[in-house]
Amino acid sequence: MNVAGIPYRTIRLHADGVSVEVIDQTLLPHEFRLVHLHTLEDAVRAIADMVVRGAPLIGATAAYGMALALRQDASDTGLARAHAQLLATRPTAVNLRWAVDEIRTATIRLPPAERAAAAFRRAAQICEEDVALCSAIGEHGKRIIEAVAKRKGSGPVNVLTHCNAGWLATVDWGTALAPVYKAHDAGIPVHVWVEETRPRNQGASLTAWELGQHGVPHHVIVDNAGGHFMQHGAVDVCFVGTDRTTATGDVCNKIGTYLKALAARDCQVPFYVCLPSPSIDWTIRDGVAEIPIEERGADEVRLVRGLGPDGKPSSVLVTPQDSPVANPGFDVTPARLVTGLVTERGVGAASANGLAQLFPERASHG
Ligand code: MRU
Repeated sequence: MNVAGIPYRTIRLHADGVSVEVIDQTLLPHEFRLVHLHTLEDAVRAIADMVVRGAPLIGATAAYGMALALRQDASDTGLARAHAQLLATRPTAVNLRWAVDEIRTATIRLPPAERAAAAFRRAAQICEEDVALCSAIGEHGKRIIEAVAKRKGSGPVNVLTHCNAGWLATVDWGTALAPVYKAHDAGIPVHVWVEETRPRNQGASLTAWELGQHGVPHHVIVDNAGGHFMQHGAVDVCFVGTDRTTATGDVCNKIGTYLKALAARDCQVPFYVCLPSPSIDWTIRDGVAEIPIEERGADEVRLVRGLGPDGKPSSVLVTPQDSPVANPGFDVTPARLVTGLVTERGVGAASANGLAQLFPERASHG
C-alpha cells in the first residue's frame, strides 16, 4: 500500500541480497524508518520487540530469520537452534510456527551448502503467498461492504476495527483492512472507526496512520466507545483480524476483541473475522482452554508513549507508582459470536463445519 504516494511492502529482501528490510513499527506514526535485519539475532529481536508485529508479518519475518540463520550456520544444530529461538519470541500468533515449520521442511533434507538459498527462496514465496491470500480476503470482504452499501443506499459504510490488522500486520493489503482498501479503491464510500487498542495503541498509531496514508476516511476512538457507536447505529459492520483461529472457529485476537464481539451481538451488528489459512491452528478445538495468551510487560500499561511537547518521543506514568499490573495481550472470541470467517477461499461459518467446507483437505486430516 502507499506511503506518501509510494507503494511499499512491510518486508522484503534488500537489493544488497544479504539483508532483510522492514519498517520499524515502534516508531510509527511519528517516524517512517526502514531497518535492516542481517542475522538470526536481528530477526528474533525485531519480532520480540515488536519492530514487526501482526500475525502474518511475524510469520514472514520468522521465515527470513530462518534463512538468515542458515547463512550463519546451516548445520542440523543451526537449523534446530534458529527454529527454537524464533518460536520462543511470541507465543500466540500461530503463523510463526507455521512459517518456521515451512522453512524447516523446505531445507532439512538438503545438504547444508544448499539450505540457505532454499530458505531464502521459500521465505520470498511465503511473502508473495501472503500478498495473494490477503488480496483474496479483500475481494471476498469487499462484497460484504458492497452489500451493506446497496442496502443503505446512501452515506458511507461504517466499519469498526480493533488493533491493526491492516497492511502493516501482513506483507501487503492486511486482513481486516483488505476489504476496506478494496472497497475504497473501487469507489465505495467507506469510513472506519479505529479503536485505539490500549495498551500499545496499534489502532491509534498504526491503523490510523496507514488508513490516512491511503486516503481512507476514519476516526480514532477510545476502546470503550465501540459499544456506544454500535448502540447508536453508527457501525454497519465489524472487521477484525486474528492471531490464531481454532479448527472449530474460535478466534484469538488482540485483547478487547471479545468485548466488541459481545457488543456487536447485542446490537445485531455483523462481526466478521478476516484470516489467511496460515492463521488457523488445525490441532486445537477450544480456543479459551488451548490458545497460549501472551502476557506482556507491566510498563505497557503503566506508561503511555507518544511525542512530548518538545516533539520528541516520551513516556508518561498513568498508574500509581506501585500498583501491580496484569497485561494479557490477546483474548478469545468464541465462534458463536462470529458472523463469518473471511478467508482467501471465501466467507464461511465460524464452525468446524464451516472451516471444513472451505478447507476440506486440512479438516479431514484433523
Ligand atoms: O500484538 P500484535 O500487534 O502483533 O497483535 C496484532 C493483532 O492482534 C492483529 O489483529 C492480528 O495479528 C491479526 S493481523 C492481520
